Amino acid sequence: MKRLITSFLGILLALSVRANEGMWLPFLLENNIGEMSEMGLHLSADDIYSINQQCLSSAVVGFVDLDRPYSHFCSGSVISALGLVITNHHCGLSVVQQHSSLENDYITNGFWAMNQAEELGGNDIGVCFLRRMEDVTAQVLEGVSDTMTIKRRNEVINSNISQIESRVSDSTGLKAHVDAFYCNNEYYLSVYEIFEDVRLVGTPPISVGKFGGDTDNWVWPRHTGDFTIFRIYADSLNRPAKYSAENVPYRASNYLKINAKEKHEGDFVMLMGYPGTTNEYLPSFAIAATQDVYDPIVVSGRGKSIDIIKERMRADKAVMIKYTSKVASLANAWKKLDGERRGLAAKRVIEKKRERERLMSEWITADAARTEKYGTLLDDYTKEYAVYQKYRRAKLQIDETFYKSEMINLCSDIRTILQSGSSDEEKRTKIVGWLRDFYADYDLKTDLAVTQMLELEYLENADTLYVPNSLRGAVGFIGGLTGKLLQKSLLADSTKAFATFRNYTQKSRKKIENDPLFKFTAEIDAAYSNIKTPMQKSLKKTDDFQRLFMQLQRECFADKRFFPDANSTFRVAYGQISGYRPTDAVSYAPFTTLGGVIEKCDLDVYDYTVPDRLKQLSEARDFGPYCNADSSLTVCFLSTCHTTGGNSGSPAFDADGNLIGLNFDRVWEGTMSDLQFDADICCNICLDIRFVLFFIDKYAGARHLIDEMEIVKD
Ligand code: ARG
Ligand code: GLU
Repeated sequence: MKRLITSFLGILLALSVRANEGMWLPFLLENNIGEMSEMGLHLSADDIYSINQQCLSSAVVGFVDLDRPYSHFCSGSVISALGLVITNHHCGLSVVQQHSSLENDYITNGFWAMNQAEELGGNDIGVCFLRRMEDVTAQVLEGVSDTMTIKRRNEVINSNISQIESRVSDSTGLKAHVDAFYCNNEYYLSVYEIFEDVRLVGTPPISVGKFGGDTDNWVWPRHTGDFTIFRIYADSLNRPAKYSAENVPYRASNYLKINAKEKHEGDFVMLMGYPGTTNEYLPSFAIAATQDVYDPIVVSGRGKSIDIIKERMRADKAVMIKYTSKVASLANAWKKLDGERRGLAAKRVIEKKRERERLMSEWITADAARTEKYGTLLDDYTKEYAVYQKYRRAKLQIDETFYKSEMINLCSDIRTILQSGSSDEEKRTKIVGWLRDFYADYDLKTDLAVTQMLELEYLENADTLYVPNSLRGAVGFIGGLTGKLLQKSLLADSTKAFATFRNYTQKSRKKIENDPLFKFTAEIDAAYSNIKTPMQKSLKKTDDFQRLFMQLQRECFADKRFFPDANSTFRVAYGQISGYRPTDAVSYAPFTTLGGVIEKCDLDVYDYTVPDRLKQLSEARDFGPYCNADSSLTVCFLSTCHTTGGNSGSPAFDADGNLIGLNFDRVWEGTMSDLQFDADICCNICLDIRFVLFFIDKYAGARHLIDEMEIVKD
């Protein structure tokens, strides 16, 4: 029987160790390099990452908000000796927006600095370089024992982490950050150098940089020219410095060379960057909760909101302008999670995980020491997860209902700051700033319609136990209670709102809090924190069970190579250029061309506007040296690398480590890869570097930038 289990395990492992799955750690690549070479890579592990500055990873950057420097929101790479950096258009859009005005509408028209003096600085983003990464698990776990309470354990760990971080930061002047890996079983230190003066050099018009908009988002075939170029500036000694006119272009010790040749299906591809979050090792019941409870809440509420907003946008041009980017951010998560729950169901992930859990149970029971250690784990975890799930569902429903009402959300933010310890002056400034942003893009009629719809959905679906008091009697009530509150609130009248908060003193607080909407929001906020507190307590317990469950998986399936879940640290992924088959009888090719852009344009859809100049270049087939053998111009390609949010802007490399493209999305059928990678349908979408070069050269006429880059000849 034991032999049978072992051989069955063998089969299961063979099935589960799929090439291409995984986001690997740069300093542990020795374990992957054999497989990578077999797939076509010509480099050594040291060429990819080493402490030596000449390795490829030293030319890869993470994009950060300067006030949150360890949370990389996108990736990018250095492509010239003078610090040019390339990333996605959607990663740099907030900077473009910041510099745009009615007179200089860079969003619509694009922007190209024709010399360094024209590059636009003073931005609130920076880039960081990973200088070193190492395993510090032993130091972090010093003083931790298995018999400690979870609370004590976390205290010891956090204190050890702070000590390590300050020791390294103090001695190197670099920023040190310790992150947890393998569900809190291991801890690695990353040492970063962060540059704070990053200037906008060039960006295409949004009709190119976001071609296809939300219609094509998460979808293949894709034709989006999703890139933007920045330049890093440093002080006269080439060190990081805050934005200043004195700064000079950063002299990069290493930058990527560009392979502008035509690519082919089957070519090796490697990606590097900062993937944000994945949860690949959850138990079946957590997947079931995601597929059947959490994702549907978001998908249903947002789907209906988007329909309402789009109808209003079609009816009223002013609403169209105000809500374009709001609807885009609602739609991005909506579409992704819809793809995720469908993918999980289609690939029967719950059943597969259950089967693995059955095998684990058998493995545990077969041995007394294992039984001692893990005997009750699955049962205990299941029970605690049920508690957590109840709270998480209730919290998510409030998030996706009341905090998706624009006015209630604003009201809640105002309440929080009014109750904070900030001075009256700080409160006035902050709130007036929020009001300005809010009314610039606000339409009461749209917000009312969305709020009323969401509220009705909530009353129909929420567990009465967690429903805020004043709504309890309203269960089953049709008519939209909060809609009325919105109309009556002082926030419904911008003049009144500005007057109230410009003159705010502690004395006005009572008056404000008596506003019907503020009263109602107080109740929502209270209901929310009544859920959040016990949820967080339960989350600590489930996190601890997950730590043990991860340990169990690594011990039970000891032959499998486990990669740690994404956590915004530096990773390497690899695969090939490849098409895929989303459904029966449908097969996708891995390249799209400019001809496809022109075809889509004929469909007369708002998202498919093509600038005249691009049409002319296409008509004239004026693609310069960037065209393919059949005289087409590639726009995007598909590959089989494992990626997630945060990988946007990640450089895609060929087998020799030259830049061939930029990652910017995944295919819809495969967005489940955040929970379970499935080689059949999980693909990432890249912009081909040839399109980038063509665009800079032929469309933007910014040849000086191409001259700065190094394009490999042969
Ligand atoms: N889906 C990609 C990501 O998650 C691209 C988003 C920006 N593009 C868009 N059409 N909304 O970030
Ligand atoms: N667009 C995503 C980003 O901004 C990448 C897509 C994904 O989630 O894979 O990082």
